[in-house]
Amino acid sequence: MGAEQVRARFTELYGAEPEGVWAAPGRVNLIGEHTDYNDGFVMPFALPHRAVAAVSRRTDGVLRLHSADVDGGVVELAADALAPESDTDWTAYPAGVVWALREAGHPVTGADIHLASTVPTGAGLSSSAALEIVVALALNDLYELGLERWQLARLCQRAENVYVGAPTGIMDQTASACCEEGHALFLDTRDLAQRQIPFDLAAEGLCLLVVDTRVQHAHSSGEYGKRRAGCEKGAALLGVDALRDVPYDTLDDALARLGDEEEVRRLVRHIVTENHRVERVVALLAAGEVRAIGPVLTEGHASLRDDFRVSCPELDLVVHTALAHGALGARMTGGGFGGSAIILTDSAAVPSLTAALEKTFTEAGHTTPRTFEATPSPGATRLD
Ligand code: GLA
Repeated sequence: MGAEQVRARFTELYGAEPEGVWAAPGRVNLIGEHTDYNDGFVMPFALPHRAVAAVSRRTDGVLRLHSADVDGGVVELAADALAPESDTDWTAYPAGVVWALREAGHPVTGADIHLASTVPTGAGLSSSAALEIVVALALNDLYELGLERWQLARLCQRAENVYVGAPTGIMDQTASACCEEGHALFLDTRDLAQRQIPFDLAAEGLCLLVVDTRVQHAHSSGEYGKRRAGCEKGAALLGVDALRDVPYDTLDDALARLGDEEEVRRLVRHIVTENHRVERVVALLAAGEVRAIGPVLTEGHASLRDDFRVSCPELDLVVHTALAHGALGARMTGGGFGGSAIILTDSAAVPSLTAALEKTFTEAGHTTPRTFEATPSPGATRLD
């Protein structure tokens, strides 16, 4: 969806041209799942799917919101009356960003906003982070707040955690704000140190397929929060600030110290091995061994399924089918409990793989998944 279309619709809705148009992408995570609230490593890249926002400032404290993707008219809110967990629909994302900016002392005195997004919702591809970041970037530019990208990501995470009420980590917002075309983002979620890792699958005759199972996930549903609390308990029992501080080569010792805390042991094992998998993928890519990351992705899925227990039958079926049809590796991506999986495969195998997925899903009585090839795309940007 282009800037022109969003600009034109804004003008129609609000009776004046917007001051500008911005875009922010959804993301897919290559490896490093549930590590971000353990101060660990993640490696997402930006999707071509993005949220686009046409925005103008206001000086009267009014926030007007409209979405092309939702039935209904313009929603009008008072900026100084925004309160955590008061909005329960899509407006919570843009309103939460305005709330977080104002709460941090930034002089945002209102806005007219029209949003349109191509990021599938409920698919674990960060449609909400895309909405947050596009609004944050627009307001940062218009109000000349001078905030860095990582600071916008932190503010948007706060909007999500406090205003929306979902206890997520920092990965999605940082990915949307900081990813670069042709690269995966190696991010240390402790200090937000970043390294752009060239990730050109086409040059290797490979492709990364995203398979949206269309099983809707919901983070605030409690399971995500339970995993997070379990990880915090593990860190406390081991006497570290976060599970990131348990080195991979001391894992056996750490697990032994957890004694009969079986559930915590499983969570700790996933986080420690997952951080190690991110480092292995970074090393393999640096060595040009792109095909060799496949088995590491698959190991990550087994760990999320068996130890962290956030997979579901549909995600497991994608992985199983992909591997049975010659894929190099496959795993669920994002928070889990539904949403999407990724498959690393030879490009030539995509048609047969897609057909096999459709067949096995039909046979199992599941909805046909939505499949697309993902190429690392640009992060958030001003379009005009
Ligand atoms: C969701 C959250 C992220 C991260 C992932 C799991 O996408 O928003 O912060 O925790 O789940 O890796």
